[in-house]
Amino acid sequence: MEYRSLGSTEEKISAVSLGAWQFSESWGLLDYEMIKKIISTAVDNGINMIDTAIAYGRGKSEDFVGRALEELNLKEKVFVATKIPGEMLGYHDVLRAVRGSLRRLRKESIDLLQVHSPPLWNNIPTCEYMRALEKLVIQGLVRYIGVSNFPSILVEEANFCLSREEVVSNQVRYNLIERDAEKEIIPHALQNDMSIIAWSPLAKGALSGKYTAENLPKFSDVRQNEPIFYPENFKNIMPLIDLVKGIAEKYGKIPSQVSLNWLLTSYDNVIVIPGAKNPEQVIENVGAADWKMSYDDWLLLEEESRKITIYRSLNVFP
Ligand SMILES: NC(=O)c1ccc[n+]([C@@H]2O[C@H](COP(=O)([O-])OP(=O)(O)OC[C@H]3O[C@@H](n4cnc5c(N)ncnc54)[C@H](OP(=O)(O)O)[C@@H]3O)[C@@H](O)[C@H]2O)c1
Repeated sequence: MEYRSLGSTEEKISAVSLGAWQFSESWGLLDYEMIKKIISTAVDNGINMIDTAIAYGRGKSEDFVGRALEELNLKEKVFVATKIPGEMLGYHDVLRAVRGSLRRLRKESIDLLQVHSPPLWNNIPTCEYMRALEKLVIQGLVRYIGVSNFPSILVEEANFCLSREEVVSNQVRYNLIERDAEKEIIPHALQNDMSIIAWSPLAKGALSGKYTAENLPKFSDVRQNEPIFYPENFKNIMPLIDLVKGIAEKYGKIPSQVSLNWLLTSYDNVIVIPGAKNPEQVIENVGAADWKMSYDDWLLLEEESRKITIYRSLNVFP
């Protein structure tokens, strides 16, 4: 497994890490024994970071992760990243929220605490929550501060608020279909020695190649309302999926591995955190690291994916 630096820190994080949103009602995986197997398989195969959040199942995902790491005796081996919701960013909310996360994760300190999103509904100034986070670092309850879904200008402001710490990562949507992060957020992160933690790196399974425009299931999970899976959008991404499949065949890989590898090849500050529903998917996703497609194939994917527009509202379709 390839390991990449977390921002400018000394931490080495597996280029393919594990997303833990799946361990909640949103994705329907609530079977603890299965979750434990997923986590132990991940670590056995070189993954050393798990990404969770307070919002995932309102603490359930954190609790599953903490319990599994404790029972598997992996607490010291795995770097745990969690997130504090954008609605919980008042000074005292931050201080209290971290107490709950530490309890559920069964840890003395949180390795990476990310602000899940900027505060959309409450008018909390950036410096209020950033200074609360820094206080937690000073007290040893949090090791590093990260953000998620932050535009670059707000990352700048967040850093301005911090006296001693700096924002080490920005977690954003980034996959072969949805590449808006490349416009501003990734160049800004490169310039500032920050990691990009790519969420939905498989476009919620769309890039695994197992769904086609003709056989789109009626999802009963978070994908019910996911624009990529609107049939009108999905038919537009089929040429890209077919290309991914063709390239996978050429290298003896599977489509998920090609899709993730393309992100890792594109930028060396990217870490991908695909979610998994079973241990087999984890093993497959780990196989996205440690090989490189040719520049010609990388370019074919670059050009095909550029042709795609994902419309985010059903209203735009006739
Ligand atoms: N910061 C944020 O705002 C934010 C937002 C979203 C997600 N995240 C984080 O990012 C992580 C991943 O993103 P995501 O959950 O949106 O989706 P994703 O990683 O793009 O897709 C995960 C889904 O793809 C399918 N899959 C995974 N590996 C596969 C494989 N090898 N072969 C075939 N199918 C495979 C599985 O679903 P099926 O088998 O059911 O198809 C799995 O649930 C989350 O767990 C979470 O930690 C963060």
